[in-house]
Amino acid sequence: MTIQTRTVAKIIEPQRVSDGAGVKLRRSIATATLDYLDPFLLFDHFGSDNPDDYIAGFPMHPHRGIETVTYMHAGVVRHRDSLGHAGSIAAGDVQWMTAGHGILHEEMPQLHGGHLSGFQLWINLPARLKLIRPRYQEFAARQIPEVSRANGVTIRVIAGIVNGVRGAVNEIAADPAYLDVSVPADGVFSQPVPRGHTAFAYVYAGQGWFDAQAGTAGMTVAGPRLVIFADGDAVEIRASQAGVRFLLISGLPLHEPVARYGPFVMNTAEEIQQALADLRNGTFV
Ligand code: FE2
Repeated sequence: MTIQTRTVAKIIEPQRVSDGAGVKLRRSIATATLDYLDPFLLFDHFGSDNPDDYIAGFPMHPHRGIETVTYMHAGVVRHRDSLGHAGSIAAGDVQWMTAGHGILHEEMPQLHGGHLSGFQLWINLPARLKLIRPRYQEFAARQIPEVSRANGVTIRVIAGIVNGVRGAVNEIAADPAYLDVSVPADGVFSQPVPRGHTAFAYVYAGQGWFDAQAGTAGMTVAGPRLVIFADGDAVEIRASQAGVRFLLISGLPLHEPVARYGPFVMNTAEEIQQALADLRNGTFV
């Protein structure tokens, strides 16, 4: 059997939006252009040198039926939730929150040298797990394995397996990979991605070629852009002379109906009404 390297299905330009209490974001999933990339419900890139763009943060709000993943690149976000967790995440740290039946939390960026940047991903939960007991996982930067390949490519393995090294986050329904990849000038990165899994790259610095079939004859993709891969067994990315840095994220699609209302994502409209009723009645968490 031959290995089929994935081509590029679509390139998405992030849209500038404001969310929470007025946080300016670049949003690539959960927009009119790309509503859902099964199982991924939302992908936000926050990053600014101006505290006015982020300091209002995300005051206490609920989630149900999904997982939210926050990966910090710079700055500090203070958080607390209805499970009793409270603390701060900083550069290189990951917070993986499985909201399940319900969680209330607050995510407040702090003033820390001015610059804040990072990413938030929402992953859908399958119907059978939407109302499970909530789970909170946090990993400090030093707990996240980093793989350095002979060709100078470095990969932080948040979830998934690279060169036999297993990522920090395990036992997630979508069987996700979440890699932060840095490819030096003219370098090449290839990585298996299971056939049938949805896969995308979010280019945040530099530029490169993401379509294995077109190769360097194809167009270069410069950040910030989200690249959706077609199906196949692996991806292959070639950096330009500027090098390229991106997140590579993949997961198993659910193929289930989606009923979505803000931070609640269920399968039916009735289940959304139930979430709102639970919130009113104090039976949400
Ligand atoms: Fe949240």
